Amino acid sequence: MCRSRGDLSVGNGEHADDLSSGARLHFPKIDQPHTFVFISDIHYGSSQDPALVRKALEEVEELGPEFIVLGGDITYEFTTMEEMLEIYRMFGEMDIPVYYVYGNHDRQPNADMIGGASYSPQELEQAIAGCGIRILKDEWVYAAPDVVLVAREDISVEGRIELTALPERPEDAYIIWIDHSPYQDDEIASSGADLQLSGHSHAGQLFPLRTVYRLGVRCIWEDYLVGTTRVYVSSGFGGWYIPFRTEKTCNYEVITIMPGQQK
Ligand SMILES: [Fe+2]
Repeated sequence: MCRSRGDLSVGNGEHADDLSSGARLHFPKIDQPHTFVFISDIHYGSSQDPALVRKALEEVEELGPEFIVLGGDITYEFTTMEEMLEIYRMFGEMDIPVYYVYGNHDRQPNADMIGGASYSPQELEQAIAGCGIRILKDEWVYAAPDVVLVAREDISVEGRIELTALPERPEDAYIIWIDHSPYQDDEIASSGADLQLSGHSHAGQLFPLRTVYRLGVRCIWEDYLVGTTRVYVSSGFGGWYIPFRTEKTCNYEVITIMPGQQK
């Protein structure tokens, strides 16, 4: 699934010819294949090279997926207002439906430590929605006639509603549950999700953070099963602060769900 090279790639553009990973997942609820792109943790304007982001988005547009899911932390505390507007404008200009789920950094909750936020949560929401991007927060939506996307607020938000408080999902649809942080896979699996998509960990990014992360979650990248739910944790497309990785490369994920039994 995710590429396994452990070289340094954030921000240096050296893998600009090969930015995607691919997964083919099989599920009995699907009558026909669906291909979509999941991209999280760009941290635009922080550690990632903007040219690399633009190249990735050109690749995605050329690929022509049915839809794109933005899995949170697209921006970061260091992202300026101009950069925030720019990254969503780039997604909005694609002729592809785009869905967005909040991460723990997008609204710059820790910006007081670096001189203050560049934009307010309201300005962020208006910018995203103004680009025609559908924000998913404690709700679900059909992304295709047989595919449902469901998402909650990020776990870092105080007072996040309980998973059981979310509106009931249709039983005959394929359920993709997006949760920026991959901490509650047991609960999500028990809710009837077919696929959980998460990011947040950047595959650990720097040694030995990988080890620390493993204390909190089963997996910090790639995929695994919880019951019958496939959990897919992306290594993300950017990183924290420093343009440097020792743990896995930056990726966007091209995911194809196919008819057939889960395996
Ligand atoms: Fe995050």
